[in-house]
Amino acid sequence: MCGIVGIIGKAEVAPLLVEGLKRLEYRGYDSAGIATLVDGRIERRRAEGKLANLEALLAERPMGGRIGIGHTRWATHGVPSERNAHPHAGKRVAVVHNGIIENFRELKAELADAGHLFDSDTDSEAVVHLIDHYLDQGIAPAEATARALRRLKGAFALGIIFSDHPELMIAARQGSPLAVGYGEGEMYLGSDALALAPLTRKITYLADGDWAVVNADGVAFRDREGRLVNREVRESRLSGALVGKGQYRHFMLKEIHEQPQVIGDTLASMFNPASRTITLPDLPFDLAGVERVAIIACGTSYYAGLVAKYWIETVARVPVDIDVASEFRYRAPPLRPGGLAIFISQSGETADTLAALRYCREHGQHTLSLVNVPESTMARESDGVLPTLAGPEIGVASTKAFSTQLTVLACLAIAFARANKAIDAAEEQHLSQALAEVPARVAEVLRHDERMADIARLIAEARDVLYLGRGSSFPIAMEGALKLKEISYIHAEGYPAGEMKHGPIALIDPRVPVVVIAPSDRLYDKTLSNVQEVVARGGRVVVLSDAPGLLEMPVPAVAEVELPVVDPFVAPILYAIPVQLLAYHAAVLRGCDVDRPRNLAKSVTVE
Ligand code: G6P
Repeated sequence: MCGIVGIIGKAEVAPLLVEGLKRLEYRGYDSAGIATLVDGRIERRRAEGKLANLEALLAERPMGGRIGIGHTRWATHGVPSERNAHPHAGKRVAVVHNGIIENFRELKAELADAGHLFDSDTDSEAVVHLIDHYLDQGIAPAEATARALRRLKGAFALGIIFSDHPELMIAARQGSPLAVGYGEGEMYLGSDALALAPLTRKITYLADGDWAVVNADGVAFRDREGRLVNREVRESRLSGALVGKGQYRHFMLKEIHEQPQVIGDTLASMFNPASRTITLPDLPFDLAGVERVAIIACGTSYYAGLVAKYWIETVARVPVDIDVASEFRYRAPPLRPGGLAIFISQSGETADTLAALRYCREHGQHTLSLVNVPESTMARESDGVLPTLAGPEIGVASTKAFSTQLTVLACLAIAFARANKAIDAAEEQHLSQALAEVPARVAEVLRHDERMADIARLIAEARDVLYLGRGSSFPIAMEGALKLKEISYIHAEGYPAGEMKHGPIALIDPRVPVVVIAPSDRLYDKTLSNVQEVVARGGRVVVLSDAPGLLEMPVPAVAEVELPVVDPFVAPILYAIPVQLLAYHAAVLRGCDVDRPRNLAKSVTVE
């Protein structure tokens, strides 16, 4: 969602605020802005669109000030425009906000009646006028903010500066993540450790409901009830260097090509090559006692969970329920105490997944999070954490986070199966060995990059694309379709191949390419029948399979891609790669902004 940065500095802060925003742009890029204090006045620069527009504006009209806040926006209320861009400011206060103020209409009506003039369509501006309203009554900034916070409903991370107080910044958090960073005589505020990494590694996350009064030389945290509280200072592991694209044209392509490395790193943290066994990090509960698993996630992470359902059920023989978080939480499902709830999230901050985690904790479940950001809220609030070692993922469309999630989930399935005595030592060694070969096989798959670029020509001119797969290839079909939708804006659907005849077959004609994910596994023949059904109706098929599979393919496909032969257990990890490349090249051919697709954000911290 939106990104927030704030600095009380020793020198001019505008350039550093922009640096911080660059690292947060993945959270939203509808508009960006900064506000600083210059001689007791609030100065603002805001620009619609990507951060480059704000930078151009600042080059034309630089701004001074040694205290300031910045924001990059993913629009919720009000169209993306300069008027709706943050920071919002009133007479004496400027505010940046991430989240949604649910009662903003009531607040706005009340404040407008009291004479406040609103000049945006956002929910966030209500916070500005509410604080101004209390300041007007002669109340000091901290108390004015505390009173305003008590009136707000919804989710928020706020950064606030006051024109009459050049050394004061107030931060508040309810739901949306926010961290305070410590410098030498400087203090910082950021949505995540990544934003603060060039400035400091010493950070404190606000707990839910906290607000903090920040001065140049320190910070005082208060909880929801206003009590002074201590919050742990952590050392972030992130490097200060801005993650670059290297020789690649886009972050997404770079991240796709990093997969052999990061899958290898992730695997190395759990696989013992000598014994060919899997060792998970210590968990505060015993997998052997778990009778039922619930997996909850959103977006691409949900599809990783869907693969894990196949793995855990078939290998470990434990029943798994899987849900998208926004459905799970509102259905409020009954949960038997002692169950295991697994949350999968690149960011570890997705609002719906986090709410589901809290629900599961309250209902007696063991909670286990798979996250790529070790400092994230989900990591902090779960009983156990399984980290994916993908490194910072900047492209909004998830790629390397997905394949490392699959890697961890495969390890988890093996560990589960062992704990459950569903496999013997020989089978564990066999599956672990298959996993150990994945980084090398993924590197082979990446050699098809140019071939996928060729095939993408066919995809790029289509209006609709169908992706089909069976078994654990079905989630990969869904993920392939999602990738294509996200970055090329082509309508695509992922379907279980066997279910195609119950609907999507009506779509088949020569204008609808059908991408079939078909490793030669025990379901291969069934998938083949479905391919024949497509071809018989004039459909144009792109087949992703291996040498034995392609040999058996009796019908002409318009394109075939030969992937290495691997154990079917690990096939989903391999087959994820060509569908990523296909989406990437189709988006490039269509001239789309691959790393920052329209309307999307990488981290969705609103419900
Ligand atoms: C957004 C991103 C997706 C991501 C999803 C879940 O929609 O654009 O790439 O899969 O959120 O995010 P999470 O951080 O929880 O994995």
